[in-house]
Amino acid sequence: TEEELYTVYKGVYVVSSVHTPESLKYFEEFVFRPDDIIIVTYPKSGTIWMKEIVPLIMSGGDPAPVDTILNWNRVPWLELQQTASLKLEQRPSPRLLTTHFQYNMMPPSFFEVKPKVIYVMRNPKDVFTSSFHHHGAASVLVDPGPQTQFLHKFLDGKVMFGSWFDHVKSWLNAEDEDHIMHISYEEMIMDLKGSVCHMAQFLQKSLDDEAIEKIADRCLFKNMKKNNMSNYSTALRELLDQTKSEFLRKGIAGDWKNQLTPAEAAHFDAVYKDKMKDVKYTFAWD
Ligand code: PPS
Repeated sequence: TEEELYTVYKGVYVVSSVHTPESLKYFEEFVFRPDDIIIVTYPKSGTIWMKEIVPLIMSGGDPAPVDTILNWNRVPWLELQQTASLKLEQRPSPRLLTTHFQYNMMPPSFFEVKPKVIYVMRNPKDVFTSSFHHHGAASVLVDPGPQTQFLHKFLDGKVMFGSWFDHVKSWLNAEDEDHIMHISYEEMIMDLKGSVCHMAQFLQKSLDDEAIEKIADRCLFKNMKKNNMSNYSTALRELLDQTKSEFLRKGIAGDWKNQLTPAEAAHFDAVYKDKMKDVKYTFAWD
């Protein structure tokens, strides 16, 4: 149950076994550099995809970082228990980092330094679908139980990292937006090359057409799935049982249509409409 596996941190659930008091303290005291690059996502929105794309952009298309470094070390989660041991303060700039936290939960240094952020959003119905499958395979997460029950928890924000709605709104309403780029999973599905190009511009990395082509090709779902440094094949089976659901599961937009019943989809839409009524942003899935 949630009581057994999760801790409430600043009003949202985090996973007790991997987000310990020490790791949350580490996060709160983390000192950013102006040239850090932070990938921010609500879980299941395209985090590991970005952990492939951004290192390749920064290496100018050289595949060495993604071929030789495990993705959770390549772009570590700042809040994760194992991260303190990675000695991030000794890494050369620009450091590539990631977090699943909401804007208002970022540590003081973040607001002083304003490092570059790429915030990735995904259709919440697909986030739910991906999350439901992932919860069935990851032992540190609660058993999702029946789908409708998990859907209610998701829509109420009673899931790890809290409400999707709060998360997206927090990062869309962020102040000093110049250092924050917003992109969607759906844009990346529709036009990966264009998305890579757009991100490279934001990161002030000039890449020729050939490099962009090469990066986009490496990051296609089918190619990334073969990369043992990125597909979680080396993760312990007792932590992630990929015979139940693979981390790189389907990699498409719109899989919710195969998952939600018409009644669940209608309920989702009604909640979405209400919670998003004040948001003036055209999402790729609208
Ligand atoms: S996590 O647990 O938060 O780090 O998960 P996250 O990486 O954010 O999300 C996992 C989903 O992203 C899909 N994925 C991709 N889609 C398309 N192309 C590429 N290259 C790619 N890499 C990862 C992954 O398959 C999960 O989505 P689903 O819908 O479950 O397939």
